[in-house]
Amino acid sequence: MAKTHNFFPISTLLLLFQSALSWNDQTRVATPPLPIPPLPSYSQLKWQQREIIMFLHFGVNTFTDREWGTGLESPSVFNPTALDANQWADAAAQAGVSLMILTAKHHDGFCLWPSKYTDHSVIGSPWKNGDGDVVREFVEAAKARGIDSGLYLSPWDRHDPRYGHDKLYNEYYLAQLQELLTRYGDVREIWFDGAKGSNAKNMSYYFNDWFSTVRELQSSINIFSDAGPDVRWVGDEKGYAGSTCWSTINATSLSIGNATIISYLNSGDSKGTNWLPAECDVSIRAGWFWHKSQAPKKLSELLDIYYKSVGRNCVLLINVPPNTTGLISKGDVQRLKQFREAIDTIFSSNLAQNCLVEASSQRGGKNGGFEAINTVDDDHMWTYWAPSEKEKGDYWIEFKSRSGKIKFNVIRIQEAIGLGQRVKKHEIYLDGIRVAKGTTIGYKRLHRLEMGVVHGYSVMIKIVKAKGLPLISSVGLHFDPFWNPN
Ligand SMILES: *[C@@H]1O[C@H](CO)[C@@H](O)[C@H](O)[C@H]1NC(C)=O
Ligand SMILES: *[C@@H]1O[C@H](CO)[C@@H](O)[C@H](O)[C@H]1NC(C)=O
Ligand SMILES: *[C@@H]1O[C@H](CO)[C@@H](O)[C@H](O)[C@H]1NC(C)=O
Ligand SMILES: *[C@@H]1O[C@H](CO)[C@@H](O)[C@H](O)[C@H]1NC(C)=O
Repeated sequence: MAKTHNFFPISTLLLLFQSALSWNDQTRVATPPLPIPPLPSYSQLKWQQREIIMFLHFGVNTFTDREWGTGLESPSVFNPTALDANQWADAAAQAGVSLMILTAKHHDGFCLWPSKYTDHSVIGSPWKNGDGDVVREFVEAAKARGIDSGLYLSPWDRHDPRYGHDKLYNEYYLAQLQELLTRYGDVREIWFDGAKGSNAKNMSYYFNDWFSTVRELQSSINIFSDAGPDVRWVGDEKGYAGSTCWSTINATSLSIGNATIISYLNSGDSKGTNWLPAECDVSIRAGWFWHKSQAPKKLSELLDIYYKSVGRNCVLLINVPPNTTGLISKGDVQRLKQFREAIDTIFSSNLAQNCLVEASSQRGGKNGGFEAINTVDDDHMWTYWAPSEKEKGDYWIEFKSRSGKIKFNVIRIQEAIGLGQRVKKHEIYLDGIRVAKGTTIGYKRLHRLEMGVVHGYSVMIKIVKAKGLPLISSVGLHFDPFWNPN
């Protein structure tokens, strides 16, 4: 502006030309890059952010000390002496759980609610003289604490005589789904599995009709099964996802109760055309139902599961079974509380937040809206670092200490999955030495360093391979006092 030009019209043209080229970079905040499909739905994204959800296996097996009931149990065995669903919900709330799923019916066919279509239910049990409804008490206790409800309705039914007759049993099953999804308010997850004994009667489940019915009756529900359609099984009952774990997979290659697809479920598919993230189910005890002889897993085991489920881009579904009193045993409540306190201890402070943050490049340039500093704010989804479109492949983001060495043993990396899961391979360096490497990141990737605690001045995350531009929404450098690799 200080200089005046003699050739006024030409300089004006030049200025116009320059601003046309650069308006996207400088005049305004840059737009987000295009998404890379498939993308999560609103309900899937909400589900993912729950991180830990709770399963409650409860029914006749609780009283007969079995895992799989025979279907021959009398409803009279179901007799909790002091059932209090508020105690379950308190335990969940204390563990930071926002969704609880109850076994409304397990394989034995006994229904925890007074279904119109069978007398094999709480109607026939001495509990509350046959006037009780565990499902209602469960959803009401959850709701009072702001916790969402989910339900499991076992497809395999060892009691009902209609089982084995395709049309009759599918009608019965649909009738019960209608009861569960219309009587109890909002249900956020419905659980279907393919479990079936080897000499069970042969029959086809009309999954498409079941799924359509669920969609018709509930607007923001996620349907879980081996094959989705919203949430897939992770392929084991240990709570472990694959160390490569894509939320994407080809739904057409999946079927329910098919043992040949277990490793595909465990790792997902980078080329998958469906967004179908994995849920890791595991029990806090050896069994799914409460047994007097069993005790909760150790804290170190639960933390190992956490790193291999939530830390591998999944949601952890942890089962905590009520006992014959109708309460969650004290030891389990205590262990859950310790588990939550340990997670909070590890992740409440992030050493990366005190660092100088730099990156290989930034979309839109400096102040373009996609700075590296976005990886240390409190938003782990919609503010993120994005490199420039011009950059070709050598993507990195670096955290430099402002004073002294950083001491940590856990690295957390999160992708902005709202725009698609992208990272295929990444590496982490401390002062130029590689300390961790991995494949997928997804919503959350946790590396608990094998060598234990490390000290250094600068941590660099290199994105070695990705589908398009990598978008990193959050990074954490944490200290886990419970981790003793030696
Ligand atoms: C089970 O029934 C299906 C049809 O519903 C049939 O195709 C299949 O061969 C049967 N399997 C056995 C083991 O009988
Ligand atoms: C099991 O899955 C494989 C792989 O997708 C498929 O080829 C096979 O037909 C499936 N089997 C059943 C019984 O659905
Ligand atoms: C999944 O589908 C994509 C697109 O059709 C295909 O490229 C990919 O090979 C499929 N994955 C597997 C394991 O078949
Ligand atoms: C069930 O758990 C409650 C709460 O911890 C406890 O008071 C009760 O004794 C337990 N019942 C049994 C049968 O262990």
